[in-house]
Amino acid sequence: MEVRIERIEDINAIFQVNVAAFGRKEEAILVDRLRDIESTFSFVAVEAKKVVGHIFYSPVEIEGQCSDNLFILGLAPMAVLPEHQRQGIGSLLIRYSLEECTGLGYKAVVVLGHPEFYSRFGFVPAKEKGLRCEYKVPDDVFMVLELENGTLENCIGTVKYRSEFREVE
Ligand SMILES: CC(C)(COP(=O)(O)OP(=O)(O)OC[C@H]1O[C@@H](n2cnc3c(N)ncnc32)[C@H](O)[C@@H]1OP(=O)(O)O)[C@@H](O)C(=O)NCCC(=O)NCCS
Repeated sequence: MEVRIERIEDINAIFQVNVAAFGRKEEAILVDRLRDIESTFSFVAVEAKKVVGHIFYSPVEIEGQCSDNLFILGLAPMAVLPEHQRQGIGSLLIRYSLEECTGLGYKAVVVLGHPEFYSRFGFVPAKEKGLRCEYKVPDDVFMVLELENGTLENCIGTVKYRSEFREVE
């Protein structure tokens, strides 16, 4: 199993992985729309030369009070082919990509997803760190991980994803 940054030749396979995992095209189309935007990052898990998993990050803004130059990413979407799920591929993708994001100087990552899954990697409800989601979602599903301890101290605000996300129901 190899985890690495996406290459041009992975693009079709990434589309298919997202369609298969979500059972619809919206997330796959979203990735295609966001891919060329600055500060987006796309990683794949490859097994026997086949893309079996994918994870994507895009920049988010905080509307409220936060220190300047606080670079935060939104993790979304992430997908593993149904027949490859529950084998640790998603966890591998998260661990690898979070390390890369830390190395690139990002300070925190937010995610909207399964709390029991993301809490394994240290994500906590974003509310505990003063951050709200722009969408109406239960408190426990909107989570944040500080990549640098204490980076969100004195931070209060609403996290805004790229406008392209609003086109996904
Ligand atoms: C979520 C997803 C990326 C996890 O990938 P994975 O390779 O299966 O993850 P891992 O094998 O590393 O970890 C498996 C854990 O994921 C969690 N998980 C997977 N699917 C889940 C679901 N539908 N609901 C809740 N938790 C889920 C479980 O905690 C599971 O742990 P368990 O096997 O001990 O029960 C994958 O299941 C997927 O593509 N799902 C469909 C798309 C999706 O929901 N994407 C995430 C949006 S937040």
